[in-house]
Amino acid sequence: MTVTANQNVRPLTCKRDANGDLTVGGCKISDLVKKFGSPLYIYDYETIHSIVTDFKKAFKDTDIHMMFAAKAFMTQAICKIMQKEGFGLDCVSSGELYTAYISGFDMKNIVFNGNNKTENEIRQAIDWGVELFSVDNFLEAELLNKICAEKNIKINVLLRITPGIECHTHEYIQTGQNDSKFGFDLEQVDEIVSLIKNKYKNLNLKGLHAHLGSQIFETQVYNDAVKVLLLEAKRIKDTHGIELETFNIGGGAGIKYTEADKPVSIYEIGEVVKNALAKYSREYGIKNLHIYMEPGRCIVGTAGITVYTVGSSKQVPNGRKYIAVDGGMADNIRPALYQADYTAELVSQKNTKDTEKVTIVGRYCESGDILLKDTDFPKTEPDDLICFYDTGAYCYSMSSNYNRVLKPAVVLVKDGEAQIIVKRQTFEQLIESDTIPEMLL
Ligand code: LLP
Repeated sequence: MTVTANQNVRPLTCKRDANGDLTVGGCKISDLVKKFGSPLYIYDYETIHSIVTDFKKAFKDTDIHMMFAAKAFMTQAICKIMQKEGFGLDCVSSGELYTAYISGFDMKNIVFNGNNKTENEIRQAIDWGVELFSVDNFLEAELLNKICAEKNIKINVLLRITPGIECHTHEYIQTGQNDSKFGFDLEQVDEIVSLIKNKYKNLNLKGLHAHLGSQIFETQVYNDAVKVLLLEAKRIKDTHGIELETFNIGGGAGIKYTEADKPVSIYEIGEVVKNALAKYSREYGIKNLHIYMEPGRCIVGTAGITVYTVGSSKQVPNGRKYIAVDGGMADNIRPALYQADYTAELVSQKNTKDTEKVTIVGRYCESGDILLKDTDFPKTEPDDLICFYDTGAYCYSMSSNYNRVLKPAVVLVKDGEAQIIVKRQTFEQLIESDTIPEMLL
């Protein structure tokens, strides 16, 4: 099976030059840090292009809409890349929708997800041109119908269902199991379908949506998701006489954070999904299928790296050796939140033979601000650069200003060129929302 970018720890263009210095997208990483500062997020265009191309090829005979899950990494530049690649977007907030809108994204190519869309967000989405909603719950259906009635329009909806499938990933990023906060339980489907059929005349029920979880390494769950969705469609047809044709099977494909991770090729997922669609559509008599997929992590995860500068270090007598870097949990919360493991390397290859066991920690005032625990690492000195791989998904998008530390810049590299896609935050921006009320003056 063809190896796809998500099966690599490093971005596809990442290599060492003749002096042993790490390069990505044809740019020397130490030069990028000199120019753009540290810490620095770097995205490799080629890796993103490669994986989206593989998605297109793996599903080429299917009527499929690929929607990049914007929550993984959302900026105007990524919207431009996705538009150019022919991908749509899965958005979950008016902030994500606004980013897409302002970037000039084709808003018709967006599905609006989320388990608690506010009335305001629903109105904004419609005003900005969104035409497909994944309705998560009873309140949302009622609100959406009310707003569409007011505007005298009909909107296309999918119903987000909880398919009752458990995948083997971290508990916090499982979503498709029973007893989840997302979507309609299968036992509630008849009630919402009846409401749409009989009462919510401004909702046009097109199909069903399920998302199983994230960082999935199995393929069987995709088969199971397709089966549950199409079986449910058959049941709805038999019970309510409504024919559904659109099925969103969510995202979830895993990436390789460390050598121990064994993510599957996008082509393997393609085979399983295509076989399942053929089999269950035949078995359950579902015709004219339109499929949606919402990959996030695997589109941008491998493409992104974070570069830090080494600062202080500490050898605890009879204990660990700690190396502190100039970033940490505010630019990558994943180790603290999910015990996520990463691969890190020195940017310059000096001393690589002389290794020691170290724990790489961040600069934030929190004992849990540990980026990599008990790892064998070359001896470092202050000002050495350390590169963390696979930080392209859910790192910048979950970053914060904890400790009032400024957010790093984000740079896109391609063919030896590096351009800023998010500027480093400034002190002015840090305080721009602060106000000192009169009572304190
Ligand atoms: N579709 C829906 C409805 C989702 O909820 C998600 C992710 C995706 C698609 C994209 O899933 P992906 O292809 O990226 O696995 N912050 C966590 C991940 C949370 C994922 C939430 N939903 C992390 O850093 O691991």
